[in-house]
Amino acid sequence: MKVLIIGSGGREHAIACKVAQNPKVKHLYCAPGNAGIAGVAECIEVGVGEFEKLADFAEREEIDLTIVGPDDPLVGGIVDVFEERGLRVFGPRKNAAVIEGSKAFSKDLMKKYQIPSAAYETFDHPSDAIAYLNNNSKYPIVLKADGLALGKGVLICGTPQEALDGVRQIMEDKQFGTAGDRLVIEEFMTGREVSVLAFCDGTHIAPMTSAQDHKRAKDGDQGLNTGGMGTFSPSPFYTEEVDEFCKKNIYQPTMDAMKAEGREFKGILFVGLMLTQDGPKVLEYNARFGDPETQVVLPRMKNDLIEVFEACIDGTLDQIQLEFEDNAAVCVILASQGYPESYEKGLPIKGLKNFEGKEDYFVFHAGTKKSSEEILTNGGRVLGITATGKDLKEARKKAYEAVTWVEFSNKYMRNDIGKAIDEA
Ligand code: AMP
Ligand code: GLY
Repeated sequence: MKVLIIGSGGREHAIACKVAQNPKVKHLYCAPGNAGIAGVAECIEVGVGEFEKLADFAEREEIDLTIVGPDDPLVGGIVDVFEERGLRVFGPRKNAAVIEGSKAFSKDLMKKYQIPSAAYETFDHPSDAIAYLNNNSKYPIVLKADGLALGKGVLICGTPQEALDGVRQIMEDKQFGTAGDRLVIEEFMTGREVSVLAFCDGTHIAPMTSAQDHKRAKDGDQGLNTGGMGTFSPSPFYTEEVDEFCKKNIYQPTMDAMKAEGREFKGILFVGLMLTQDGPKVLEYNARFGDPETQVVLPRMKNDLIEVFEACIDGTLDQIQLEFEDNAAVCVILASQGYPESYEKGLPIKGLKNFEGKEDYFVFHAGTKKSSEEILTNGGRVLGITATGKDLKEARKKAYEAVTWVEFSNKYMRNDIGKAIDEA
């Protein structure tokens, strides 16, 4: 079997490691990949946005299965391009990936099908948004740019002035480009945030074990929003009761809703949940694996990933029983000082060999590249250091041991990943 993975982050490295375990996989390619992925796959220099070139490659090399990692190509319709050319591909089509690509779409879907989520209004004109804010007395309030904005299009505004400034930034100054053509204004929710990733075959949905992310750059959830500074799995707050509720009121209803709308969802549905006092509510949907959630979820998965992907494509997911180890995992992101704003690239990384042959430890490359004999930093998030353990405490201890095994200048991390475990 020949497999192509599209993407270049820690998520794709974790997927590649798992896919490589299937003995049927004889050739694994990744476009464009990174220095870590190059250890398990042949990296090819084609960007994730070059749909036709990627499809040309898949055709020429007779790729049996292509797996799409990031949101941008999915929302842009890469799956449609592959399918039109008769190529087998894992991921939602453009008309289904809109569940992530448009927050207004996902909010309207939840409202129509009574899926629990925060109250909201959608605006196409800044004057209407401002008029609405002038009549609103509840703060904080949440502003969301409708489209994809690298995870940065959400503003939590504590005062009326902040909210008015936010409307200007998003809709008038176009800080997030066309993503800000529409605006969703949403009720602020409080509670624990949990990420649940689920395999979907258009009809059936199979949720994986839960995870929790740490989105802010600094300890104590301070600083700017990032792509994610670390994760742990499972979440001790995602109880069986919560799971039951979500299966009945969120996961299956979302699948059914998408089907009823003629937007059958095949691929990974990532449900961002807020566990509020009134029960679990959807914060957001993504149409792909989470990053760095994937780096703690896949190392705990017992199933063969290729088999599950195939079942999703073929509509036979109901015949698969997902299984996860009865253990825990913690991932600490090693970033470059200054991320998510400005940071240096091209700094040599030492100590990667320390991970070789160690069973419970993983070093997933997020932003790295190879130059002659050295591996260099090549992004804000550089590495994801994951450790598994019998429970969350042990996994956390091991992950924080392992972060000392690698060194590069300007290495930065949060020191409180998984601190919430102590409060569980
Ligand atoms: P999103 O990109 O929709 O995941 O939003 C980014 C982050 O903003 C989330 O992970 C939450 O921490 C926060 N957030 C989004 N929507 C709300 C909300 N309605 N209430 C409180 N926090 C929110
Ligand atoms: N870790 C959050 C995301 O992948 O969107």
